[in-house]
Amino acid sequence: MFDLPAKEDIFCHGIPTTPDDITECVLRAMGRTENPRLRQILEALVRHLHAFGREVKLNEEEFMMAINAVTALGHLTKDRHNETMVMSDALGFSTLVMILNQNREPEQMSPALLGPFYSRKDPEYPNGSNINRAEPKPTDIPLFVSGTVQSRDGTPLANALVEVWHASPEGLYENQDPNQPYLNLRGKFRTDADGHFNFRTIRPASYPIPTHGIVGDMLAAQNRHPFRAAHLHFTVSAPDHQTLVTQIFPADDLFIESDCVFGVTSADLAVDFPIHNDGNAPADDVKGQYSTLSLTIDLSPGESRLPQSPID
Ligand code: BEZ
Ligand code: FE
Repeated sequence: MFDLPAKEDIFCHGIPTTPDDITECVLRAMGRTENPRLRQILEALVRHLHAFGREVKLNEEEFMMAINAVTALGHLTKDRHNETMVMSDALGFSTLVMILNQNREPEQMSPALLGPFYSRKDPEYPNGSNINRAEPKPTDIPLFVSGTVQSRDGTPLANALVEVWHASPEGLYENQDPNQPYLNLRGKFRTDADGHFNFRTIRPASYPIPTHGIVGDMLAAQNRHPFRAAHLHFTVSAPDHQTLVTQIFPADDLFIESDCVFGVTSADLAVDFPIHNDGNAPADDVKGQYSTLSLTIDLSPGESRLPQSPID
């Protein structure tokens, strides 16, 4: 099954005794990885992981705690909850990767992290539909969202796919909340010939991320609050354009500058969601307060690729 190593392939020159010997030896052992990108990633991972162990001089008890933490991420990850993604978000790693990969002019809308609750199962609705499938509550504030999707040069993009999902005013996504209908506050829309889309929902609120697991333990140990600024998530995609994954926040939210997953990466994502009470809501059943949000979304040329869903 395995080729026995030729003399020149022996990884360790002599018995590794020092921390540096071990790192060298592991890097040599992995040096025959055929895929060059995989080799680059794994080599850098080993160098940084070993450097981390040396820097903090990790003791054996701490090492077991780290193993148990990674094991817990796996055990806590279920069909409708992805603790590993929540950890990446709380470590700022998801935002870092997103910033590294953005390709846009400064005047274009910024991206923001995907988060753990994106689902490819979200229902597709005609423009103008209400994505709130729950019984309306007197405290809900109806929110009317309209927008245009265009290419970076201003050309409207017809038939672009706009996916939206957000938490309830109680701060829970439908997958976290047995009291909400399945796929509540989630929807997909297609832009019309002029690149326009519009839908109705309810104003979201700021909410704590799930703290029942290892991420909650980490936040508590670090004296960090678990709140996200209120937001709507969007992915916007069209052929031959880079898919934009982003979030839009009401600018006056209390947590804009301390979002616990570092999601507010750019001032252009914090926008005005005005509240009106003028009797002119764009729906006959809305007599009192309502809110509006208007967006222009410019996509960069590139590959259209929908993200994988972290939940089922
Ligand atoms: C969210 O935006 O839905 C989210 C992001 C990170 C952790 C938990 C939730
Ligand atoms: Fe969210």
